[in-house]
Amino acid sequence: MTDLSHPTLPGGLPDKRQVAASFSRAAASYDSVAALQRAVGVALLEQLPADLTPSRWLDLGSGTGHFSRVLAERFAGAVGVAVDIAEGMLGHARQQGGAQFHVVGDAERLPLQDASVDLIFSSLAVQWCSQFASVLSEAQRVLRPGGVLALSSLCVGTLEELRASWQAVDGMIHVNRFRRFDDYQRLCAGSGLQLLDLQQRAQVLHYPDVRSLTHELKALGAHNLNPGRPAGLTGRARMQGLLQAYEHWRQPSGLPATYQVVYAVLRKPLQAGE
Ligand SMILES: C[S@@+](CC[C@H](N)C(=O)[O-])C[C@H]1O[C@@H](n2cnc3c(N)ncnc32)[C@H](O)[C@@H]1O
Repeated sequence: MTDLSHPTLPGGLPDKRQVAASFSRAAASYDSVAALQRAVGVALLEQLPADLTPSRWLDLGSGTGHFSRVLAERFAGAVGVAVDIAEGMLGHARQQGGAQFHVVGDAERLPLQDASVDLIFSSLAVQWCSQFASVLSEAQRVLRPGGVLALSSLCVGTLEELRASWQAVDGMIHVNRFRRFDDYQRLCAGSGLQLLDLQQRAQVLHYPDVRSLTHELKALGAHNLNPGRPAGLTGRARMQGLLQAYEHWRQPSGLPATYQVVYAVLRKPLQAGE
């Protein structure tokens, strides 16, 4: 497995154009299969500081805009901006309201002015960014002093059962790579933002069979896009091998799929160096 301990992951994560295309294709199916994403976003909302009253918020990696609509309701009167790398997702979100502005952009290079937002809310998007340090420095740049970055992401151990099952079949990369939790810790600590909270929580979903899991990942746009993934269709024999290998993990409630979720809340100091 690739060493993800470095801030930069050369060749370690998928091409961003492929990520954007995959999520754009998934825009219509995403909401029907996004139960985990909903639960994680709700948990992230609960971690926002109670005294937070942003006049301008950013939903970063906003997807279909579900949480943009929640933020718009919660912070009525504030101006909302939704940024996503996938035009198809933004098109879907735009029709349903929530943010006033829908902008195509990359979390590692935000299309926003310095000191222009009071809250960045980002749920389950930055695991697609190879340079988490760039996400943090962009957040530092666009936040106003006292502004808050609240994010959820995924770390190593996510989809471990699927990864290990494929490993037993052909030793190839079939599952997206994830950064280690201690890298999130180290990069947050060195970001210049005050770390208010950082946690890792495991969430386990259960499926009747492997196909239900892989179809769901595809409908989310989150199936394997890694460089080095096997090309073409998955052969019948290898698929049969996967089904058998995954059976070793079966529990009374079905086949488990573990998500290791990272939650982080950071605040930009009121004064530099504070
Ligand atoms: C799993 S979805 C989450 C969507 C939404 N936040 C939610 O919780 O329902 C991930 C989203 O992040 C977007 N994304 C991936 N990489 C990104 C990047 N570098 N910059 C901005 N958005 C990105 C994808 O296009 C996708 O819409």
